[in-house]
Amino acid sequence: MAEDAVLGFLQTKEQISDSHEFAASIGVSHTELENLIKSLKGFQIVDAQEITRESWVLTDEGKTYMVNGSPEALFFSAIPTEGISRSNLKEKLGAEIFDIGSKAAAKNKWITFEKDLVKRKVESVQDEVKDVLARINSGEAVGDQVINDLKRRKLIVKQTWKGYSLKKGPKYVSKRKKAETDLTREHIVSGDWKNLEFKEYNLNAEAPQIQAGYLHSLLEVREQIQNIFLEMGFEEMPTNNFVESSFWNFDALFQPQQHPARDSHDTFFLETPASTKDLPEDYLGRVKLVHESGGYGSKGYGYDWKREEAEKNLLRTHTTAVSTRMLYALAQQDTFTPKRYYSIDRVFRNEAVDRTHLAEFHQIEGLICDRGLTLGDLIGVLEDFFSRLGMSKLRFKPAYNPYTEPSMEIFSYHDGLQKWVEVGNSGMFRPEMLLPMGLPEDVNVIAWGLSLERPTMILYGISNIRDLFGPKVDFNLIKSNPICRLGL
Ligand code: PHE
Repeated sequence: MAEDAVLGFLQTKEQISDSHEFAASIGVSHTELENLIKSLKGFQIVDAQEITRESWVLTDEGKTYMVNGSPEALFFSAIPTEGISRSNLKEKLGAEIFDIGSKAAAKNKWITFEKDLVKRKVESVQDEVKDVLARINSGEAVGDQVINDLKRRKLIVKQTWKGYSLKKGPKYVSKRKKAETDLTREHIVSGDWKNLEFKEYNLNAEAPQIQAGYLHSLLEVREQIQNIFLEMGFEEMPTNNFVESSFWNFDALFQPQQHPARDSHDTFFLETPASTKDLPEDYLGRVKLVHESGGYGSKGYGYDWKREEAEKNLLRTHTTAVSTRMLYALAQQDTFTPKRYYSIDRVFRNEAVDRTHLAEFHQIEGLICDRGLTLGDLIGVLEDFFSRLGMSKLRFKPAYNPYTEPSMEIFSYHDGLQKWVEVGNSGMFRPEMLLPMGLPEDVNVIAWGLSLERPTMILYGISNIRDLFGPKVDFNLIKSNPICRLGL
C-alpha cells in the first residue's frame, strides 16, 4: 500500500525529496500518490512542499528521430560511394526526409553536390541528434547549445513538472488509524469510542448541490402577483376552460363578427367539437340586437349578426371571456353585489413565434364591478396595483378595444432599461357589453389585463421568451434563477 510506503519511509529517512521518483520507485501513478499526499497533509501527518521543475521532452517528431535516426543521418547513409542523383535519392528517402536531411547534412559538411549528383564528403558520420534525443528522453541533462538547436527544430519542448517533497508532519504516525466519521449508539454502548479517532469536521467543505424540484420563474412571479390581488381584496375567477365559444370570447364583448381578431390568422378555431350549441338564449337575443341595431343609447354596428359565427369554438384568445361569464353570472343575482375579480391563466393566439411572442401566453386580468365607478377609479387602482409590482411611474395612453370605452394602454418607466415600456391594457367595459347582461344601469366595470411573461422576462433579464416557456425552455436557467429578486 502506498500509504504504508510513504509513512514507513519517513519513519527512518528525513524526507522524500521528489514525489515523482518515489511514485516510480513504489510502482504507483503520481496521481494516486498525489491524492494520498493531500489526504495525509489534511491530517497534518505529513508536511508537503510543492516543487516545480522544468524538463525537456521529445515531440512526436523528436521521438521518430530517436528511433529511426535523424533525417541528415538517413540522408548520408542512403548515398552510395559513387554518389547518386538527386531525383533517385529523393525517391529513396521520400520528399520530407530528403528536404530536411539535405539541408542539415550540407550544414554539417557531410555531403557535396556535383551538378545533379549527391556525394559523400566524409567517410562516416555519427548521428549525434539521435544520440542526444535518447539522452534527453532518459532524463539526462545536456548543454544549452544542443537544447537550443533541438528546440529550434521543434524536436523537444519544455514541460513544467509539478511534484512534492515530503517530511513528517506534526501529527506524524507510522500507521494511521482509520478515522471514524460517525459516533454511533454502538460505539457508546461498547465503550469503543474511547479508542477511536474521529474525523474532524471540515467546515470549509462545500455542500453538495441538491437536485430538487425548482419553481419555474413564471410560477414564482404568478404567485407574487396573485398575492398582490389577494392583498387588494380580489377573488380568483375559474379559468379552467381553455376552449371557449366565440360567443363568450367575442360576441358578448360587443366585438363585431367581422373584427380582424376573429380571423383564423389570429385565433385558433376547433375542428371537433367545432361549435357550442348551449348558449343562454335570452341573453344571446339581446347580444344579437345590440350588435345589429344597438339599444341602451347605442346605434350598434348595423350588420346581420349570425348565430353560427357565435357558436364557433376556439381556444380563448383572452381571459376576458371568463370575466364576461362572471359578470353575466353577477347580473343574474337578485340583488347586485360589488365584486373584485382576478385571474392568471393561459390564452392562445395564432401568432408567428419570435423572441417575444409565442402562440400561447399567460394573461393577468383584474376587474372591479361596482356602482358609479369612473376612469379616476381605474387610474387609482392601476397605480396601486403596479406600484406593488415595483412600477410606480405610470403613464396612460388612449387606446381602442371593442369592449371598453374609454380604453388606456399602460406604460411604466423602467429604470434598468431607461425607457417607458408598455405593461398592459385597460378600460371601462362598454354599456353595450354590460347592459344586455342585465346589470343595473349605474354599475360600471373597470378592468385591465397584461401578460405574465413580460414582467417575468424583465425581472429575470430574459430576452428570448422561448428560453422561458415551451419545448426549448432552458432548465439551467430555471435551476439557477434566484429565489428572491429585487423589484417585485
Ligand atoms: N383582453 C385584453 C387583451 O387581451 C386585456 C384587457 C382586459 C383590456 C380588460 C381591457 C380590459 O389585451
